[in-house]
Amino acid sequence: MTIRQIQDEILRLKKEKDVCILAHSYETPDICEIADYVGDSYALSVKAQGVENKTLLMCGVRFMAETAKILSPQKRVFLSHKDAGCPMAEQFTKDYILAHKKRFPDHKVVAYVNTTAELKTMCDVCVTSSSALKIVKNMDADKILFIPDINLGSYIAENCPEKDVQLLRGGCPVHGGIKEEEVLRAKEEHPDALFLVHPECTPDVTKHADMVGSTKDIMDYARESSAKEFIIGTENSIAEHLSLELPEKKFYTLSKNFICPDMKLTTLSGVLEFLRTGVGEEIMLSEETRLAAKKCIDEMLRLSK
Ligand code: 13P
Ligand code: SF4
Repeated sequence: MTIRQIQDEILRLKKEKDVCILAHSYETPDICEIADYVGDSYALSVKAQGVENKTLLMCGVRFMAETAKILSPQKRVFLSHKDAGCPMAEQFTKDYILAHKKRFPDHKVVAYVNTTAELKTMCDVCVTSSSALKIVKNMDADKILFIPDINLGSYIAENCPEKDVQLLRGGCPVHGGIKEEEVLRAKEEHPDALFLVHPECTPDVTKHADMVGSTKDIMDYARESSAKEFIIGTENSIAEHLSLELPEKKFYTLSKNFICPDMKLTTLSGVLEFLRTGVGEEIMLSEETRLAAKKCIDEMLRLSK
């Protein structure tokens, strides 16, 4: 089968079987083309609430599918590949967070949405990269323990100096792996390009940015800017999507290694197989975990309005 034939079959089957496909924008263009909705973590979690189909397939990583299940318990929610985890979301245990909560008993725990459902049960509010700053500023608390990303946390602490923000040493190995030298080299090669970067990168990288924001913020900025060239400081698929969408503008990547291997586990043939057989990685959460985790996601949705 050609790619087009696989895509057509996916479109036919998802309609027949009443499946909604959500895709994170780090997925490849062939996956995004067959999705009902493509977006960043925040947009996907908002969308997951309003979906009317009986079944939802999350093309992304596990915490995104868990968030969809937490918000839509009446639906069957499947993850596009059983091994598609997020190393950042899974790096801390409940006991580790508990120990830090004891160290900072007066601090509200703010969790990046890139956390497991289990960790969300211990937190007061969730944030995504596009909503983090707004929510921390809007929170009725001056003392915050931010988990798990030290880079996003540092960005929040710097831009919200009026609050005491405590951090843990967690983070994304993909964004955190980008070096300042790579930024300097790209800027030297493309002196007229604006540098748009994700806050999961280290401060050594974000300090060179013209704009720091989530994948959606980066894409919106590139669409609206009158500039013609951009260095994209996040997963390389964003530069690929933007090049396809805006052929009159130029998008440069920082490194050929700026790829999330977990996001790339999802394939068109895997999606087709799931739709044909109905067999896949179904997200199951106990009602106790789901309700406890839902509190901090509801709080995120309330505070980001
Ligand atoms: P956003 O979708 O919030 O930009 O986050 C990027 C990411 O790393 C997803 O895991
Ligand atoms: Fe997780 Fe990083 Fe991949 Fe995002 S890019 S899913 S934070 S490992």
